[in-house]
Amino acid sequence: MLADIGIFGLGTMGENLCLNLVEKGYKVSIYNRTEEKTRKFYEKNRSSAIIPTYNLKDFVESIKKPRKVILLIKAGDPVDEAINHLLKHVEKNDIIIDAGNSHFKDSDRRYSELKKVGVNFFGIGISGGVEGARKGLSIMAGGSKEAFDEIKEILEKISAKYNGEPCFSYFGEGGSGHFVKIIHNGIEYALIESISEIFFLLSKFFDHEKISEIFNEWNKSILSSFLLSATVNILRKKENGKFLIDYILDKAEQKGTGKWSVEISLETGIPAPAIAAAVFSRYISMMKESRVKYSKLYNLSKITNFSLDLEDIKKTLLVSILLSYIQGIYLLKGSSFYNYKINVSEALRIWRAGCIIRGEILNLLYKEYLNYEDILLSNNIKNILLESFQSFLKTLSFAFNNHLPFNVISANYNYFIMVINEKLPANLTQALRDYFGAHGYKRIDKEGYFHTEWY
Ligand code: 6PG
Repeated sequence: MLADIGIFGLGTMGENLCLNLVEKGYKVSIYNRTEEKTRKFYEKNRSSAIIPTYNLKDFVESIKKPRKVILLIKAGDPVDEAINHLLKHVEKNDIIIDAGNSHFKDSDRRYSELKKVGVNFFGIGISGGVEGARKGLSIMAGGSKEAFDEIKEILEKISAKYNGEPCFSYFGEGGSGHFVKIIHNGIEYALIESISEIFFLLSKFFDHEKISEIFNEWNKSILSSFLLSATVNILRKKENGKFLIDYILDKAEQKGTGKWSVEISLETGIPAPAIAAAVFSRYISMMKESRVKYSKLYNLSKITNFSLDLEDIKKTLLVSILLSYIQGIYLLKGSSFYNYKINVSEALRIWRAGCIIRGEILNLLYKEYLNYEDILLSNNIKNILLESFQSFLKTLSFAFNNHLPFNVISANYNYFIMVINEKLPANLTQALRDYFGAHGYKRIDKEGYFHTEWY
């Protein structure tokens, strides 16, 4: 009997997705570039629902037509290479699904290239990591509608469920699914950094056990989220009786999706300073050797007495997380710049389960977005921000006074203060541009562009 679907790439994601598909009743054909992996995985998970294959011809021929092949491989050139090899064996109307963290512009290109030869390219952004692959993912799909209809049932089965509602959605042609996933990851970066900055502040005054207790309490409130609960678990983890977190090098790596979110911000002109700050925080963290040198030269370390309420810190995290999501939402709204028509409400809906950025604040944003597409106009959001603002300021000034890094949290402060300010100093910016470059400026009392001979 032929397989319902094929998995190309048996990394941990591929393996777990295979087991998930089998559990949902599908017959799955598997292929990996190195035979050894396929062999080992099959030996460990021997089942009549898994067909191990060791060359691409057998792999493709072992799948029912129209064939559906999911690529679970490293984004970038490996995807093009895999597609080129597969094209020698697949036929018209077969569907190649790229489930990696690919750039949406690459997915747009692959979509058009494959369309020319009659093969369907489908890009799905999947979130949830290894556990999600095994138990249920949040799936952001993009590609031809016909291909979507063919794979819809499978996507539904492997998706996470929020109160029984499957967390997958079709966002349109080309790379639109990967576009949504990139914004998801940009938000992920800003949330991770917000939690890390708060952790760093708390760690100056409390031990890990206490901080995990604090976070655990917060996790029972509106701050309840996957990332906060993951932090609680991380802070509890010991190795040989010592906290593992203390042995992890403070250099944060990245695979590029956060940077791509910032590129979207720069290209569309939609501000996302919290996401940019999160990416730069990772870059600065990578300067470990320089940081060691500079820290000796600029010895500014100073810790005053702890003069904050935990409630102030909690509200600070709440504001930073909320504003980070909000910037992501506005980025999604800018999808028309790339000729997509992303349904933002759908993105928020399917992020409610399975994905890394799931949490109560997101649930709230989903509900509010149904009434306020310009989300900062929502009364509920306004009330949360205003109600927490004094606490936010207190924590911010405490962090500044103690020379603690608050890169994302302060980026969120400036974003908020600027977007709610009717008047900004951009009049002087314009005057200076006109002064030295005759770039012209608009006036508040007359229509049109003006230039002044300033000297
Ligand atoms: C997810 C994650 C996942 C992966 C990131 C990590 O939604 O499941 O986003 O895709 O963990 O790609 O990205 P960095 O290596 O850039 O942190």
